[in-house]
Order: sequence, then C-alpha cells, then structure tokens
Amino acid sequence: MNIVANWSYPTAVKLGRGRIKELADACKTLGLKKPLLVTDRGLASMAITGHALDVLEEAGLGRAIFADVDPNPNENNLEAGVKAYKEGGHDGVVAFGGGSGLDLGKLIAFMAGQTRPVWDFEDIGDWWTRADASKIAPIVAVPTTAGTGSEVGRAGVLTNSVTHVKKIIFHPKLLPGVVICDPELTMGMPKVITVGTGMDAFAHCLEAYSSPFYHPMSGGIALEGMRLVKEFLPRAYKDGADLEARTNMMSAAAMGAVAFQKGLGAIHSLSHPIGAVYNTHHGMTNAVVMPPVLRFNRPAIEEKIARAAAYLGIAGGFDGFYDYVLSLRSELGVPDNLTAMGIKPDRIDELTAMAMEDPSCGGNPVTMTMENTKALFLDCF
Ligand SMILES: [Fe+2]
Repeated sequence: MNIVANWSYPTAVKLGRGRIKELADACKTLGLKKPLLVTDRGLASMAITGHALDVLEEAGLGRAIFADVDPNPNENNLEAGVKAYKEGGHDGVVAFGGGSGLDLGKLIAFMAGQTRPVWDFEDIGDWWTRADASKIAPIVAVPTTAGTGSEVGRAGVLTNSVTHVKKIIFHPKLLPGVVICDPELTMGMPKVITVGTGMDAFAHCLEAYSSPFYHPMSGGIALEGMRLVKEFLPRAYKDGADLEARTNMMSAAAMGAVAFQKGLGAIHSLSHPIGAVYNTHHGMTNAVVMPPVLRFNRPAIEEKIARAAAYLGIAGGFDGFYDYVLSLRSELGVPDNLTAMGIKPDRIDELTAMAMEDPSCGGNPVTMTMENTKALFLDCF
C-alpha cells in the first residue's frame, strides 16, 4: 500500500514516498529564494542529503549546506550556524535530519534575527514573548528518522556546552511552515536507530496519554500513535525497506510530538540526565527506563492504561500492557536495564538532582520527589 497524504494539522505536512522532490516547491510556498539546508555531520555526506540539495539547485535555490552540528547540538553550533546563515545571505532554513539537524536548523532560523542570547528564550512562562517574532525566518522541515517529531514541534533542544544540561527553547514560530515526510529517507536507518527513534515516538505517546493534564485531543492522538507503533515498528525493524511500515512510523512520530503538548513524564526526566551524563541514545534510554516508570506510575494510571490496552487489542489490562512493553523491547533488542546498557549506579544522586530539574518532571502522573526518584533510578539498574 502506497500511503500519500497532505495535512494542514498541526502545520502543512506532505507525507508519502518520493515527496522530497517537492522540497523546492515547499521552499517557494514560504517565499524562500536562498535557503540554507542544516543537517548533522553524519548526514552531510549521505546520498539522501545530496539528492535534497540537487532538488534545490535544479529549482534555482542554490545548494547551501551547514552541517557543523554535534549529535547533541550546543550554543557553539548555533552561533556558527547563524554566522553561516547571515554570511550566506539566506532567507530561510531547510532543517534536515534526525533530532539534532531538525532542532539546530529550527534554532538557526529563530536566532538569525534576535539580539538577546538564546538562553533568554528557554521554555519558561512567557519568555518566548521576549523574541522579535517578525525576525524569525521560515522553516521547511525534512525528518530522516521517525521518532523525535521535532518536525511538527514548536521547540528546539539545545545543550549547554559547559554544564551539559539540555534546555528547551520555545517559540510558536519554531513550528515549521511546511514538513516533508518522505519514508524513503528513513529506509537507510540502521536497526538500532530504527528501534531507538521508534521507541522515542512510543514514549512520547505513552507519556502524553498518561499525563494528568486535561487535553483530550492529545490523548486521542497519543492512543492511535501507540497503535501505529505497535503494528509497524516491529515490521520496520524486521525489514527496513518496508515502506508501509516506514510511512506509518513517520506518522506515529509526528503524532507523538503533537500529543506531548499535553505533557511528558518520568521516562523523559530520567532519560535526559542519563543521556547528558553518559551520552546514550535518547529513545533507546527511554525504552530502557520504561518498565520501571510504568511500575512507579501504576497507582495513578492503572485504569487509564487498561483502557489503552483494550484499544490496542491487548488482554489483561495494566498487566497485559506492561507485559506487552516487555515483549516489544525484547523483540527489538532493547537492553533490559541501565546495567545492560553499560552504566554503573555510581552517580545516582547527581542524576536524581538533574531529573528533578527536568521540565518533564512536573507532568508525571505520580509526583516525583528526591526520595522516590532516587529509588526509581535504582530500580532502572
Ligand atoms: Fe523524546
């Protein structure tokens, strides 16, 4: 089945095989004549990136690229990117890649016209109103993985190069104006990245669904997102060239990011510090801490998860859902716990303090304290 779709929710999304050929049209829709394609170092030399640049060049839009982007982009990458953007006289950004390429691309478009330091726009209260919205450049987003969902998000994650703490930079206009979801771009992902990114999408849906905040629209999207992951992630894992599975995983990734406007929780507040300290893959870390977090949250989400299980065709309520997560993880080769991931429990106090500072902490269904979060970390080993 060849799935093709055009959506205007939450922004213009062009989904389907081969639609990267519409990249130049997407730029022109937003008025771009000289876009800067931003991606990470690893992707810069890959054929999919060269092809995207070819599409731009053939339409007379040049083939400018900035790829000096670390796996966890920091303020130095951002500064270099803004410099390249200004020196090149660009008028917008094609954010291309997984989480790092997408986020840094979005942040370059955002910061190119601002005068205040980027940290002034952290996702706290109404700090975003400090930005001059008229100076934010248009963004076309092209994901090459299926997990982060940053292509439909209004935030970008930036790591402080000194403290290694990840900060969320937020502005409504960080939402790309056009998104191209071409599943062929994700076919080259190695299995471990397919799993890590796919489990990130699942974690977004699960945490958004479990979050206590009132947002029934997000709740519904999260539920269907989980169903898509359940049906299609094992297929994409078994056969990376399964385009129907790859297409549906791109949908699930976008849905996870739409849904988590409702909130995230302990999976992410644990995973962020582990990733910052040990440089582990974000989505894979989420998958590793998922069962202990489910046990931790059980008193608050048991009934809700039983409803999700029924929708997903899983028998046995909460227990059935929990067992399903365990079997999905083993089917996909996810490490059993943090020990199996090669991490020692010798920095738990530091990790706990960082988890309590994480913005996802406040959205967890069970209130997180220093004591119970430390115990939860221990349970992850
Ligand atoms: Fe995530």
